[in-house]
Amino acid sequence: MILFDGVWFSYTPGRHVLQDISVEISPGEVVALMGENGAGKTTLVKHINGLLKPSQGTVFIDGVDTRTTSTAALARKVGFVFQNADHQLFADTLEGEVAFALRNLGFPNDEIDERVTRYLEKFDLTRYKERSPFLLSGGERKRLALASVLCVEPEVLILDEPTQAQDAIQKLKLAQLIDSFRGSGSIVFLVTHDVEFAVQVVDRLLLISQGRLLADGSPRQILGNHDLLRRARLLPPQITQLAHKLADRLPSFPRDIITLKEAVTATSRLLAKR
Ligand SMILES: Nc1ncnc2c1ncn2[C@@H]1O[C@H](COP(=O)(O)OP(=O)(O)O)[C@@H](O)[C@H]1O
Ligand SMILES: [Mg+2]
Repeated sequence: MILFDGVWFSYTPGRHVLQDISVEISPGEVVALMGENGAGKTTLVKHINGLLKPSQGTVFIDGVDTRTTSTAALARKVGFVFQNADHQLFADTLEGEVAFALRNLGFPNDEIDERVTRYLEKFDLTRYKERSPFLLSGGERKRLALASVLCVEPEVLILDEPTQAQDAIQKLKLAQLIDSFRGSGSIVFLVTHDVEFAVQVVDRLLLISQGRLLADGSPRQILGNHDLLRRARLLPPQITQLAHKLADRLPSFPRDIITLKEAVTATSRLLAKR
């Protein structure tokens, strides 16, 4: 479980980047954190793996205060895929990159080989396995960073902007992968600007603006609240915008639509009535 209890944080004295954040996330939850550029999203998630410690308040991971835990102990539990994949890749080959954390955590060799093969395959990278990570495209590097963190199968998985530079097929695969994590009782904490992706995969949305938690609820509750979205400088999914435009003309058309599937159902119903 992740618990933020009255967390404040400043990089420089007097300038609060996180302000009084309190939130609890239980095993099995898939959560997205959204908000404007510079809102404090990356700063907040860096508190989960102990890269940053609160200036005031406490962060508990499985009941343990991050201030009293080593980063190494947290690394066992919390996998973190950085916003910029280049900050976490360093090995000579893709295989070496994925094997690194497994070796560090003391996995047996046959288990390492099996997971390296399986995770390179999951992320469509097998054909480059002996290449240098630095010869990959931006999107491929991001997938390699994902593979090298996910292969450990951490209890908490933090993904900072995972859909950046990914095409539709890769996004769909990522959505399926997140779904499989949900089944295993892990926490997935997604930082994203991609509302369309978020509604597909998350159960819960947190909105942050200027370091303060603005809202916490289901995607439907939050994405239907245009005032909240405006304050967090987000646009609702395009399909929701379309539903509102249709509902302006056809009062029986539902406004609380957030996915394409719901829009198709509502449209079919409408056509059947005519
Ligand atoms: N290492 C740092 N030193 C000083 N200020 C920082 C540092 N990292 C981020 N900030 C500032 O903290 C604020 C929040 O940044 P960040 O958490 O990266 O936002 P987000 O991920 O929501 O875009 C921004 O104003 C940013 O300029
Ligand atoms: Mg960020």
